[in-house]
Amino acid sequence: MNTLKDVAQLAGVSIATVSHVINKTRFVSDSLKEKVNKAMEELDYQPNMMARALKMGFQKTIGVIVPDCTNPFFAEISRSLDQYCFSKGYNIILCNTNNNIEQQASYTNMLISKKVDGVIFISSDNTDDDISKLLKYSIPIVIADRTNRHYNIDNIVVNNEKGGYEATKYLLKRGFTKIGCISGPAFISSSSQRVLGYKKALKEAGIKINEDFISVGDFHFAGGISGAYKFLKLSNRPEAVFATNDMMALGFINTLSNEGLEVPRDISVIGYDDIQLAKFISPKLTTISQPLEELAKIATDLLLDKINNKTISAKLITLDPVLIERDSCSVKK
Ligand code: RIB
Repeated sequence: MNTLKDVAQLAGVSIATVSHVINKTRFVSDSLKEKVNKAMEELDYQPNMMARALKMGFQKTIGVIVPDCTNPFFAEISRSLDQYCFSKGYNIILCNTNNNIEQQASYTNMLISKKVDGVIFISSDNTDDDISKLLKYSIPIVIADRTNRHYNIDNIVVNNEKGGYEATKYLLKRGFTKIGCISGPAFISSSSQRVLGYKKALKEAGIKINEDFISVGDFHFAGGISGAYKFLKLSNRPEAVFATNDMMALGFINTLSNEGLEVPRDISVIGYDDIQLAKFISPKLTTISQPLEELAKIATDLLLDKINNKTISAKLITLDPVLIERDSCSVKK
């Protein structure tokens, strides 16, 4: 990998001059600037922002608050955020709240005491008290994944209602009419919006909503397990199920298998998130993918804009989910 020294040698200038051009820390004539930029382009030199931050003696840090890092969705989005923030010269402090409001408040106080440059709330609900506190200390915030419009804050989400609608339409197109749904916790916006999409697709198909076919889960394996036992008790049970996240889909499939039933032979299943695991289980899970890399990049860029340019904005940015067809749904005979 090329270094600052390689650039200086090729440009015929000192290392200090190259550093001043990159960091804009001192005036450099246009002719010298042009030589340095040309050399960096020729060598495809990428300034190591983190090394620069370390050398210049200051750490730029962003707090990231997630509710459950045992869920691969949050682990994967945390990694995307970490990689992108690092490329911009920022460390992250990852705060896993275990969906616990007191722990979330404690982390918020810690981030304030460490004077982080900004905070990204991922999927945390009941955040209003903590957001108010961060705003009181003028710490820039972006909220990602779940909807919160109570504040003048940028909010970037994926269209959950569209995802739930597409998942259900997919099952309808494969001939199923007895379609169940395993939701996340009712207070979580991403779950309730997906259930809205599920109900909308059924209504459009002229299918009456059967409350016995809806099981309220927890966005974890247990929610899928309880959903399976609820549906298996029914004499007239669903022939296909939309689980509003992959973790519950996995719990559901595993329970069916323990009860001697096969997916998709006996019941078809579609999940939501497209976590890495989804393509490595058997059957490979058909699911709705969320653009995590794009979500992480836009959330970070919005925050850096607030940090560096003191912008005040309250954009609601909505990205689209994508259906990923694999092997867990059959066609009704
Ligand atoms: O799997 C956890 C769910 O909660 C994800 O679908 C994500 O959107 C979050 O809201």
